[in-house]
Amino acid sequence: MDNIDQKTISPARRLRGEITVPGDKSISHRAIMFASLAQGQSRIRGLLRGEDCLSTLKAFQQLGIEVEEKSAAELIIHGRGLDGLQEPADVVDCGNSGTTMRLMSGILAAQPFFSVLTGDQYLRKRPMGRVINPLVGMGAKIFGRDKHTRAPFAIVGGGLQPTEYRSPIASAQVKSAVLLAGMQIDGETTVYEPHLSRDHSERMLRCFGAEIESFPGGAKVKGRVMLRGQEINVPGDISSAAFFLVAGLIVPDSELLIKNVGVNPTRSGIIDILQQMGGSIELTNPRELSGEPVADLLVRSSNLHGIEIGGELIPRAIDEFPVVSVAAAVAAGVTTIRDAKELRVKETDRIAAMCETLGSLGAAIEPRDDGMVITGGRALSGGRVNSFGDHRIAMSMAIAALVAEGTVDITDTSCTETSFPNFWGLLQQIVEG
Ligand code: S3P
Repeated sequence: MDNIDQKTISPARRLRGEITVPGDKSISHRAIMFASLAQGQSRIRGLLRGEDCLSTLKAFQQLGIEVEEKSAAELIIHGRGLDGLQEPADVVDCGNSGTTMRLMSGILAAQPFFSVLTGDQYLRKRPMGRVINPLVGMGAKIFGRDKHTRAPFAIVGGGLQPTEYRSPIASAQVKSAVLLAGMQIDGETTVYEPHLSRDHSERMLRCFGAEIESFPGGAKVKGRVMLRGQEINVPGDISSAAFFLVAGLIVPDSELLIKNVGVNPTRSGIIDILQQMGGSIELTNPRELSGEPVADLLVRSSNLHGIEIGGELIPRAIDEFPVVSVAAAVAAGVTTIRDAKELRVKETDRIAAMCETLGSLGAAIEPRDDGMVITGGRALSGGRVNSFGDHRIAMSMAIAALVAEGTVDITDTSCTETSFPNFWGLLQQIVEG
């Protein structure tokens, strides 16, 4: 393994070990946000210290929130209540983080001050109309690039009315943005979605004392209910565990125990997909942590076969398709992924990126408008691939490299810092031979 921005991964003989992955990214963002909006002190343990969550932390410090770093594993946030945020003195930079930008739009739209959100070169290309439109529908004044659909955008907050919003896409970021705006104003705000997206906002807001109801097809929040500071324990991120689940399945003679992983049913699609492909994954020691189901995952090498993936499984595994495509390239037979057009507007176009990178190692992978068709079982060769600046593409290619016939050089790998700061070290730790 090389310098900070290029890694060389060699084929692995087998994988063994017991590991924990860093805190869940989605839950970490929400813990910082809701603790800031709560009255009084919150203690957060296990927060992900990746760049995305640090963008959220810095943003709330700009909004006047005091943060105490107790240790690498523990943080105290001094919440100032729904009306305690201050106008930021400068532009708020969300870095690479779509969750920071979209959820903060909902929070800031209801605050009686001016703010501007921007992000890195990738985030500035991503669609923001999906949150700006419903917020404007509630009365927000938001002005941005590309006819108010892209960052940077400016928010003149305040004067919102509650809404009943029917989202055309199953997106937790859209759902959360509208609910967070509605939570701060008088009245009830409801969001309907075509399939259930991750429900971390609903679960955690309930822990903080919000009156929020989940029902099949959506969620409803009552406005102006005071949030109170809490102790939040963040479980390990299933989206980070996913790389090691696939690695443990496809590298022969492997056995890995991944401890303390969040297995919320709105996120655990990857386990269902890999089990349907014939993967041996056992959930042990089930428990609950801050309103979220958690378990240890035991994975053993398995002979995988191709399957069809679509419908409600897509939002339940939306961040895992790069590494699912690696599993599919190794599996016997054809895997079809459909209904997944959203992959085109993630940190990069993940359909195009996986077809190019995995294809360049010899996989039979074809793009579709809304997914991919992968014919598995062809040997992967060594080579040189680029991450497109996307953390999950970089890590997926590292997993593919474990079963390639030669070494794989992956360039532009510092992006893994956004969600998984010790990924390369952990990978080295479990590889034997
Ligand atoms: C996230 C929701 C998902 C996911 C993203 C994190 C969240 O995005 O892809 O990585 O924390 O709410 P969408 O809501 O746009 O599907």
